[in-house]
Amino acid sequence: MGKLAITGGEPLRRSPFTQWPMSTKEEADALLDVLTSTKWGGQPFPGKHADAFAKKFAAAHSAKYGQCVNTGTVAIQAALKAIGIRPGDEVIVPAYTWEGTVGPVLLINAVPVFVDVDPDTYCLDAKLIEQAITPKTKAILPVHLGMRFADMDEILRIAKKHNLKVIEDCAHAHGGMWNGKGAGSMGDLGAFSFQSSKLITSGEGGAVITNNLEYLELVQSYINAGRASLTDQFHHRTIGFNYRLGEFQAAVLGPQLDRLPQHAAVREKTIKHFESRLQNIPGISLLKPEPRITRLAPYGYVFKYFASKVKDIPRASFVAALQLEGIPCDGLFYEPVYKSSLFPVDSADFPALSWGREKPLDLRSMYSCPEADRAAYHEAVWFPHQLFLGTTADVDAIADAIGKVLANIEELRGLDHKAIRNQKLGRADRES
Ligand SMILES: Cc1ncc(COP(=O)(O)O)c(C=O)c1O
Repeated sequence: MGKLAITGGEPLRRSPFTQWPMSTKEEADALLDVLTSTKWGGQPFPGKHADAFAKKFAAAHSAKYGQCVNTGTVAIQAALKAIGIRPGDEVIVPAYTWEGTVGPVLLINAVPVFVDVDPDTYCLDAKLIEQAITPKTKAILPVHLGMRFADMDEILRIAKKHNLKVIEDCAHAHGGMWNGKGAGSMGDLGAFSFQSSKLITSGEGGAVITNNLEYLELVQSYINAGRASLTDQFHHRTIGFNYRLGEFQAAVLGPQLDRLPQHAAVREKTIKHFESRLQNIPGISLLKPEPRITRLAPYGYVFKYFASKVKDIPRASFVAALQLEGIPCDGLFYEPVYKSSLFPVDSADFPALSWGREKPLDLRSMYSCPEADRAAYHEAVWFPHQLFLGTTADVDAIADAIGKVLANIEELRGLDHKAIRNQKLGRADRES
């Protein structure tokens, strides 16, 4: 028996952290309002709750227009359609993100072009974008990942220079601000997810925001079975699908948006405290501060773990030991998308990968992104945002547990444990 919980010792933390999602009477009242109405769906379009929320959500992110959709993946797909991405067009995406950033590009038979991430932010590295641009490139799709923004100043400059559109994947960035501007309002469109783990959630759901009425109209037609948009000033007619958000889901979003500033303030305070506790801990390094982020939106709190500084104990063992101490966290949270088991691309299904080529592009083997590899397989440690919605005592427990694991790190050498084996697998491949 060792001191660490993973080797039979007492876990440092037994009580649960703040649970997520959370709800109040406001959500219950809003749900009852839908239940007792005859309008449960998104048709007639738009639903009352979805419409009210979308307007407020857009305004909260300094955008003129907003439209709810049924998932974040669809939000990206609808945004790609709105900017006119056509089969064979190339879209630049970060290598290190959720597969849902990239899937929509393939789904509309466009071609994702992977670019490595910046080690300071784990977001798309703007310095590498220009070398990935070809005559077929039509758009850049940065992700504001974890707790950082992609460098929007640089991305917008490059987009302007090369006449490219920009879609911000804001699935992690609800309420985030860059130089005082809301996430999703700086590019042509911003795409949000309201899936269960997100900073605002309806279980499943999404939204698109934009300052361009024509894009809004295209999104509305596309997600509403091709019907004319509400304003129909641009008279676009398109094949559309039913990607509407239902009213039960929309109803629980409004109260959460109202609470978001309060949550952001709590997270800011607890994260500041957490970071003060993590100063000068061997093996752990904080992400570089970014003064252009004027409001933090930490979907995940992320730091770097350097095995080489803690006797070469791999991240999988460190993270598994922390988990057993009672701290929810993850290491292999994302992989470079093209290496993930959730990306089994068969070029026969995506004809644009073959157009104009002797052999189809093999997306799984043609890329090498060392920073994405490092983040995915060695360095990044992710903590879910709700851990930071409680008290400073909660984050003290996380810091104490980190200290305990590092102080007893030798116990992990050569250890075989299911939690460690699981940590070596991508999330989709783990044993439950
Ligand atoms: C970065 C990123 N992009 C896109 C998505 C897709 O969102 P959804 O799961 O709502 O389809 C997610 C979330 O799951 C995400 O984390």
